[in-house]
Amino acid sequence: STVVLAYSGGLDTSVAIRWIKEKYDLDVIAVTIDVGNERDLESIAARAKKIGAVKALVIDGRDDFVRYFVWPALQAGALYEGQYPLATALARPLIARLLVEVARQEGAVAVAHGCTGKGNDQVRFDVSINTLAPDLKIIAPVREWSMTRDNEIAYAKEHNIPITVTNASPYSIDQNLWGRSIECGVLEDPWAEPPADVFAWTLDPDTMEAKAPTYVEITFEHGIPVALNGEELDGVTIIERLNKEAGNYGIGRIDHIENRLVGIKSREIYEAPAAVVLHAAHKALETLTLSREQTRFKELVANEYARLIYNGQWYSALHQDLAAYVQSSQRFVSGTVRVKLSRGNCAIVGRKSDHSLYDHALATYDSGDQFDHNAALGFIKLWGLPLSTQAQSQFLPSVG
Ligand code: ARG
Ligand code: SIN
Repeated sequence: STVVLAYSGGLDTSVAIRWIKEKYDLDVIAVTIDVGNERDLESIAARAKKIGAVKALVIDGRDDFVRYFVWPALQAGALYEGQYPLATALARPLIARLLVEVARQEGAVAVAHGCTGKGNDQVRFDVSINTLAPDLKIIAPVREWSMTRDNEIAYAKEHNIPITVTNASPYSIDQNLWGRSIECGVLEDPWAEPPADVFAWTLDPDTMEAKAPTYVEITFEHGIPVALNGEELDGVTIIERLNKEAGNYGIGRIDHIENRLVGIKSREIYEAPAAVVLHAAHKALETLTLSREQTRFKELVANEYARLIYNGQWYSALHQDLAAYVQSSQRFVSGTVRVKLSRGNCAIVGRKSDHSLYDHALATYDSGDQFDHNAALGFIKLWGLPLSTQAQSQFLPSVG
């Protein structure tokens, strides 16, 4: 029998190939999924076979990732606890779905992943897999074995498992198109400023050489980015270009003490230049195209949406319901936003839309003003009526 393992090429999942064979006597089919991890995936697959996988597949998931996971999260305005654009969390349900698909094609009896027993990722994988394919067994070697890092290295040496330099990093890193997540090592001290070697996608705004600001015009259709500076591009390219361009200005560093689903607080550093710029631009376009009441309600939805992504509930009915609301909310969120990139900062400096609710004749203080100033008097009278009524018959303590 076989098991389909989500294989990253790192120490944990490399050791897992041999450990699963020893412990469960299952042949491992290694699957490496490209969600924009920027690594040499073919050589990772070759390593899996060298270690003993009976098959090693590479799946390009970048298009699906952007289309079905990243863009809906952007349209929703989903930022966990107001900060984290959810790169890692968004990739998990896609990876789970692809593992299940491969398991079906190959007739496997189980799927396996390399998550620890104290994180969010194990929950996201297990809940998604159990929902999509309740009959598949789930093996999580790192959660089941009690090896420390040193034990793993010793195990690898003993079994002739090649270890690469990347395994020597003091950090735990996960990355995809939408962002890079870094934790462990010195970062576990919430008082310690992240050292320079944490960052790979963003230059340090304080030590970078002086450079003039750049402007980027981002065009959206129904809340989805479709062009940069007037040039129509596919989603993957838009994200790649913005990661590079904004990263070179030191934009997109996030230092977050976050509340994990399993009840602990953890400190994670994120680098997400494209996500930070696109969320800011998308929100700016919504300020022009959504009404006050739509904006207020959508903030509630955005928070719920972010929570359910973070908490591993992608394949839920609640998600379907909220997604329908989000899609409906985006029908007039089309237009262009002008963003100014400068050292460590991304500022919205212009926005326009054919469906703009901004009415110059109503807003202006110059001649041409069409706002009815007399109507304001009646409006104020009724708006304040409940307050003045209550103040007459009840003692209202002063708050100021
Ligand atoms: N804390 C983030 C999340 O739960 C990222 C988890 C993976 N991080 C890592 N450094 N391996 O989505
Ligand atoms: C892990 O523990 O596997 C990574 C961190 C997380 O899942 O939150």
